[in-house]
Amino acid sequence: MRVLGVVGSPRKGGNTEILVDEVLRAARDVGADVEKIILNELEIKPCQAECSDYCKRKGYCKIDDNMLPLYDKLFESDALVLGTPVYWYGPSAQMKAFIDRWYAFSHPKHIHRMKGKKVVLIAPLEETDTSAAKPLVDMIRNSLDYLEARFHSRLLVSAGEKGSVRGNTKAMNRAYRIGSALK
Ligand SMILES: Cc1cc2nc3c(=O)[nH]c(=O)nc-3n(C[C@H](O)[C@H](O)[C@H](O)COP(=O)(O)O)c2cc1C
Repeated sequence: MRVLGVVGSPRKGGNTEILVDEVLRAARDVGADVEKIILNELEIKPCQAECSDYCKRKGYCKIDDNMLPLYDKLFESDALVLGTPVYWYGPSAQMKAFIDRWYAFSHPKHIHRMKGKKVVLIAPLEETDTSAAKPLVDMIRNSLDYLEARFHSRLLVSAGEKGSVRGNTKAMNRAYRIGSALK
């Protein structure tokens, strides 16, 4: 089983990355091949759309940047761990740009390639009421429904200071359990 972890926070070693790492550690412990990508270290430009749906016709985006090799990584993964901090009730800009570029999945040769993949959403946020992440959860759920991927689980954790989630044993244990259950 291949698990691809995607970190959408610009804070290296922040709460998002800590939680994604814990999910991946558990997945590795149950025998998965895991890989982690950090979106902020890659050049992934926002969708430009002014291309007459080039990606829908060709199967890949016209923008020649670091997104192109990620298409195959996504297709080859059995599970995705999408980690993003909650920014203004939605995903980070890095995560949004990454997901917008999934528009290429609308090509007939790709439309079924996300079908059945397990997807985990990891989202730390500062507010203590984690229902503040609802718009983000809805966006992810609707996008996965469209692609017929499976929303395996979500972990919404109240954590503000960089790295503070490490002290939240309950959240760390839950991240580990989510990773183990990906098998
Ligand atoms: C630009 C920005 C917007 C944010 N918006 C929200 C928000 O809408 N709701 C919230 O609870 N926390 C918000 N936060 C706080 C982060 O979600 C929180 O600190 C999170 O733990 C950061 O994760 P990280 O350590 O992986 O970067 C925001 C932080 C930033 C920098």
